[in-house]
Amino acid sequence: MNIDQIVKARHTSKAYDGSRKLSAEQQQQVFDLLRYSPSSVNSQPWHFFAITSDEGKQKILPAIMEANESKALNASMVIVFTTQAEITDTHLNALLAQEKKDGRFRSEDSETNQDKGRRFFIGLNSDTAEQQREWMARQAYISLGFLLLGASSLGLDATPIEGFHADKMDELLGLKEKNLTSVVVATVGYRSEGDFNAVLPKSRLPQEQVITQL
Ligand SMILES: Cc1cc2nc3c(=O)[nH]c(=O)nc-3n(C[C@H](O)[C@H](O)[C@H](O)COP(=O)(O)O)c2cc1C
Repeated sequence: MNIDQIVKARHTSKAYDGSRKLSAEQQQQVFDLLRYSPSSVNSQPWHFFAITSDEGKQKILPAIMEANESKALNASMVIVFTTQAEITDTHLNALLAQEKKDGRFRSEDSETNQDKGRRFFIGLNSDTAEQQREWMARQAYISLGFLLLGASSLGLDATPIEGFHADKMDELLGLKEKNLTSVVVATVGYRSEGDFNAVLPKSRLPQEQVITQL
């Protein structure tokens, strides 16, 4: 399938075949989709919990709203997207060190400028702790988009899930102690016969209503 076909074929999976699991290679491809997602000033303020074991799923189940429970149980992988509760100096220094290690800087000046620029831009979005958290959540949603399209291109089915209790999820995964907070959830696997959304036509507002060409 080319990208045009993938865009139109992907859908939110409503029911999974619990007997079909992602291979180790597919799991790695999913991790790459998450890790290589772009983020503002390369901030990568996220941490993803990839839950594939039955124990792991049972652990987080109380945080999943009833309508999504069977998806979480039967999908091969449940991903909990989290961001930092607050961006720390340690994280900013780790980003810079990684960029240096990855060969991003041609001079000391460019390294200094990158650090300065990133801190400046994050500062613009950090008037309050809440504003900073919202900004980080927006970055996490980009990785959700990457995952949804990418999963489809890999022949996998996926479901974005806002239907969960974030406070409960934070508690169950011990996120507060890790300076993390949950943002959104997704499941990835293979759809079952019961996935009614796979056969329904797509519904989108007309192009002229959502796109203005100037
Ligand atoms: C951020 C986000 C959260 C969503 N949460 C849920 C959810 O909790 N449960 C569910 O079944 N679908 C959920 N959906 C799926 C949407 O209803 C679906 O994307 C939309 O109806 C468009 O259909 P499509 O994804 O099949 O193209 C969510 C979608 C997004 C993007």
